[in-house]
Amino acid sequence: MSKESVTLTNNSNGQSVEMPLMSGSLGPKVMDIRALYSQMDLFTYDPGYTSTGACKSKITFIDGDKGVLLHRGYPIEDLAEHSDFLETAYLIWNGELPSPAEKKKFESDIIGHSMVHEQINFFFRGFRRDAHPMAVLCGVVGAMAAFYHDTLDINDAHQRMIAAHRLIAKMPTIVAWAYKYSQGQPFMYPKNALSYAENFLHMMFATPCEEYKVNPVLARAMDRILILHADHEQNASTSTVRLSGSSGANPFACIAAGIATLWGPAHGGANEAVLAMLQQIGSKDRIPEYIKRAKDKNDTFRLMGFGHRVYKNYDPRAKIMQRTCNEVLDELGMRNDPLLQLAMELERIALSDDYFVEKKLYPNVDFYSGIIFKAIGIPTSMFTSLFALARTVGWIAQWNEMIQDPDQKIGRPRQLYIGAQQRPYVPLHKRG
Ligand code: SDX
Repeated sequence: MSKESVTLTNNSNGQSVEMPLMSGSLGPKVMDIRALYSQMDLFTYDPGYTSTGACKSKITFIDGDKGVLLHRGYPIEDLAEHSDFLETAYLIWNGELPSPAEKKKFESDIIGHSMVHEQINFFFRGFRRDAHPMAVLCGVVGAMAAFYHDTLDINDAHQRMIAAHRLIAKMPTIVAWAYKYSQGQPFMYPKNALSYAENFLHMMFATPCEEYKVNPVLARAMDRILILHADHEQNASTSTVRLSGSSGANPFACIAAGIATLWGPAHGGANEAVLAMLQQIGSKDRIPEYIKRAKDKNDTFRLMGFGHRVYKNYDPRAKIMQRTCNEVLDELGMRNDPLLQLAMELERIALSDDYFVEKKLYPNVDFYSGIIFKAIGIPTSMFTSLFALARTVGWIAQWNEMIQDPDQKIGRPRQLYIGAQQRPYVPLHKRG
């Protein structure tokens, strides 16, 4: 690391301390403040972690101003165009693109774990049929720790890899079964002759009554959408997985915690919220009314699918998603889908409005994904579950990286206490 530093001076007592600067391979330098409390008796204050780096990582780099997203150095545009989801999963986990032999073995390893333990079948039956799929995922994925006892030793690299393979392989089965259960249809088991995305669509839409042929255009689109959602640096759900993992919790519990965090409408739940918003707006003539509401500080309404903590330019995933949306709707003969037309008009108006331009609010990954999922026949309530399916790859890779990081210790933030001063207990009979 370089010997550069920042001098912090506390003007209230004149104390000065040198904080080392650390440089990465890309992006801003970081000020190492680990000694701040011991040397200056001060905490930092950064709710939402807008200026805080919580870890070192080699997995994903984002330049929000330029709209750049790299996975292990490879631009998301190249991976979406030339790679496939399992190859991207291999890259994110291992750090390098696989050789043909490595790719073939990884695909075989993953396919070999695509079935879930038959007892897990019974977990679904404990839920109401109208349970939100994300609630089902939280429960079933967390419960995997009750089955796969042979991959709970987080200090064993082989067990961590098998747990990762199991999670990547079983998420499509679990997500598809959550959908089938909500529809009152029988579960469809994975077919190992199919690709990852084909298998998922097959388990979602096939029934035992007749042969189901997966549309290759939809399978390719689904595979690309999974790539776009695979990982995204230290977002809220990934940070949750890292924090859970820092206590030594098992991988299934950590991923269940990530699923719970992703569910929020400010995060992965936004794709579901975008569809609800478009349906609420209803027609192009009502767009100005909602743009006005989105700008009104006294109105809680926000333009879902717009804005991002890091991207202050176009989310590169949103551009690829829009192109994929056109491909899917063309394939399905739905190019004039009213929701797509409404979304494109909303984007056009928002991006010409000073409020959105000044605050650098652009469409994010969630703005178009819901339109594609709806066109494919996936119900709105399932959208975030598909996000979780894909992001399991990033979560488990970031979890694995965290465990191997020698700097890592249990995450335990401090606070600015603004509560009562110490005071004596008042017995009940003396209270008013
Ligand atoms: C994801 O972190 C990741 O990487 C996440 C993700 C991933 O792959 O993991 O990319 C996935 O979560 C994408 C984001 C999906 N969420 C939405 O689309 C929900 C709508 N967006 C907003 O809730 C918001 O933009 C956030 C939550 C995404 C970002 O919020 P920030 O960074 O905390 O920014 P902010 O709320 O402080 O907003 C800055 C300003 C505010 O106005 P001022 O207080 O400065 O006057 O912009 C305004 C906000 O009011 N603003 C919006 C807005 N988003 C921000 N105003 C209207 N509509 C919006 N969508």
